[in-house]
Amino acid sequence: MNGNKRVLVIGSGGRCHAIVDALSRSPQVGKIYCAPGNAGIAEQAECVAIGVESVDELVNFAKQENIDLTVVGPEAALAAGVVNAFKENGLRAFGPTKEAAQIESSKEFAKRLMAKYAIPTAGYEAFSDYEQAWAYVKARPLPAVIKYDGLAAGKGVVVAESYEDADAALKDMLLDASFGGGRVVVEDFLDGPEFSFMCVVSGEKVYPLAMAQDHKRAYDGDKGPNTGGMGAYSPVPFVTKEVEEFALEKIMRPTAKAMVSEGVPFVGVLYGGLILTAEGPKVIEFNARFGDPETEVVLPRLTSDICALFEAAIDGVDCTTEWSDEALLGVVMASNGYPGSYKKGAVIEGVDGVESKVYHMGTTRKEGKLLTAGGRVLMVVGRGATLAEAKAMAEKGCATIECEELFYRKDIGHKVLN
Ligand code: AMP
Ligand code: GLY
Repeated sequence: MNGNKRVLVIGSGGRCHAIVDALSRSPQVGKIYCAPGNAGIAEQAECVAIGVESVDELVNFAKQENIDLTVVGPEAALAAGVVNAFKENGLRAFGPTKEAAQIESSKEFAKRLMAKYAIPTAGYEAFSDYEQAWAYVKARPLPAVIKYDGLAAGKGVVVAESYEDADAALKDMLLDASFGGGRVVVEDFLDGPEFSFMCVVSGEKVYPLAMAQDHKRAYDGDKGPNTGGMGAYSPVPFVTKEVEEFALEKIMRPTAKAMVSEGVPFVGVLYGGLILTAEGPKVIEFNARFGDPETEVVLPRLTSDICALFEAAIDGVDCTTEWSDEALLGVVMASNGYPGSYKKGAVIEGVDGVESKVYHMGTTRKEGKLLTAGGRVLMVVGRGATLAEAKAMAEKGCATIECEELFYRKDIGHKVLN
């Protein structure tokens, strides 16, 4: 940090730790604040106790501290209108407005947009009535893909292998209103390996980032419940130049253009959750922000200045990026019970002895002790010339960390290793 720019990062997870880490390598940045941050971020930035949805407090802080650039991490902050408020106050924030963030917060908005602009995705129908939804699902082949229409932190999707499970999901989402009541989208089932293609977008301009693959299920062998993501790696060998080109030209660029045509230009990270089907890549979902845990394996590979990229996107000017050829693989250490209920406050030891980078996802420090403070707690990221080397390094790191309340997957990268 040799520059004089004052930057604020909003969020508290591993994604924000990776953003802070990348910003700390920028020659333009002199000071980084993070609201609210966590124990790991506190080693690289000054943490301030402001919640990600406390819009007025965030605006006031940015004004008081003469913040030059604010980077918004989580969807909750975007949906709360943080970027709208910053703009109204003449502050520079990297992230989409609440209206543009609908590409993530409303499945139906995203599906309609893709249908209108012929962006490859699964066919779908939307319902708010349980009887109609059930009649539609039971007349179709399995598996049934049922998605709650709204923010559900990656947990509002059920891929049901039986009609019984499909019915239970519809009842849960439409009758019990356990998600807040509302609508569901029922989709065609797509088959193939998934990958995450994040692009920095500024109106019609698209700056692609390196590819990554997430691991959504809680346990080895892709078993167990869906989570926010249990590990990731970059690059992704099955995403060839040709597949990337298709994804960029037929999916990401047309989507950026479509948002402009719809009067909701997107500035920020457009995350394409894509699946490589026999007919080429198709969209499973869009997110309006950096992915977590993908960001933790993608940003360390960026060798050019991330601050310049954020500034270029805000100003709508061209910017080139440079990437290292290194392979990165990260393993998430999560609290026992996650994604269900779990304990907090367990003591973690050994983090300082890990030779790979450890991003903190949900930690806090009390009386000098590092404690668990979330579902996903740490992400250990190994690096090397190959993914196998990166994996060995990450696993060595995980084995060094001592905490009885943590578990992690041993098979991150299984789709491309062995
Ligand atoms: P989402 O939250 O939309 O990313 O969905 C979570 C997970 O459900 C995805 O990562 C996929 O594994 C699966 N999924 C979602 N939609 C589909 C689909 N149309 N076909 C097959 N699998 C899907
Ligand atoms: N890792 C998936 C997400 O960030 O939504």
